Amino acid sequence: MMLDIDVRAFNRSAWDRLVLAGNRWTVPVTPSEIELARRGQFSVHLTPSTPVPADWFPPLEGLRVLGLASAGGQQGPLLAAAGARVVILDNSPGQLAQDRLVAKREGLELRTEEGDMRDLSIFGEGTFDLIFHPCSNCFVPEIVPVWQECARVLAPGGLLLAGFVNPIAFSPDRELEAQGVVQLRYPVPYSDLAHQDEPSIRTLREAGEPLQFGHTLEDQIGGQLRAGFCLTELFEDGWPDSGEPLHRLMNCFVATRALKLRPKGRGCAPAA
Ligand SMILES: C[S@@+](CC[C@H](N)C(=O)[O-])C[C@H]1O[C@@H](n2cnc3c(N)ncnc32)[C@H](O)[C@@H]1O
Repeated sequence: MMLDIDVRAFNRSAWDRLVLAGNRWTVPVTPSEIELARRGQFSVHLTPSTPVPADWFPPLEGLRVLGLASAGGQQGPLLAAAGARVVILDNSPGQLAQDRLVAKREGLELRTEEGDMRDLSIFGEGTFDLIFHPCSNCFVPEIVPVWQECARVLAPGGLLLAGFVNPIAFSPDRELEAQGVVQLRYPVPYSDLAHQDEPSIRTLREAGEPLQFGHTLEDQIGGQLRAGFCLTELFEDGWPDSGEPLHRLMNCFVATRALKLRPKGRGCAPAA
């Protein structure tokens, strides 16, 4: 049975609490990192361990960048310091406040918008040259609309840099995992709403943890292709110090670089 919960509200409150708890993905960058970024030396992540290769980026000066579900005072301020014109859209006011805090501290121009990654209707067609979308689509139940919205708001020839979680990461039995044993229990695709019961969700809420969803690779990769993107790069990444035994056995994160094609384009010819 599918639990009827407002996922966006649940996860907004969870991420606001994760900010207060000092979760790794909410800690703002330092003044020295910003100083280096101003000189073109920056390291940003779509996935937990491996930085995005520098050659995935076009020249950043004046580039119109959307940080999609990317708040936390991390990637947005670094890309702004490196010369990009950055807008960050995120569901958590607490996370967005971290971006504004760094922007004010460092005198950076950066716009923040509270919103849902599945609905970018506040932006017109072709508003951005690059979207930076770190691992975060595990916090929404459906991702095909995310890729479609990305394609709409990117200018022809624009780039979508995205991170996502291999859905196998959501399959292990949680109690056995705590004992160091990996045993697959939940199906792919995975949904906290469909595969957990009310007491488990209550425990998540009390712990300030967000609801999560494990999407098929067809939705992750095929979803980008069907939205009109051409994949130009992909790497897998690990998180060996996460404490979860599966992450000691395989790399469960994926980063992709995708180019927006011509309208209704086929093949990998860049948009005109
Ligand atoms: C893992 S963090 C990503 C940003 C972080 N700075 C990083 O480096 O990974 C996940 C982000 O997704 C955001 N988020 C969750 N659900 C969202 C939604 N429906 N729409 C937009 N953002 C969402 C959270 O508020 C959080 O800031």
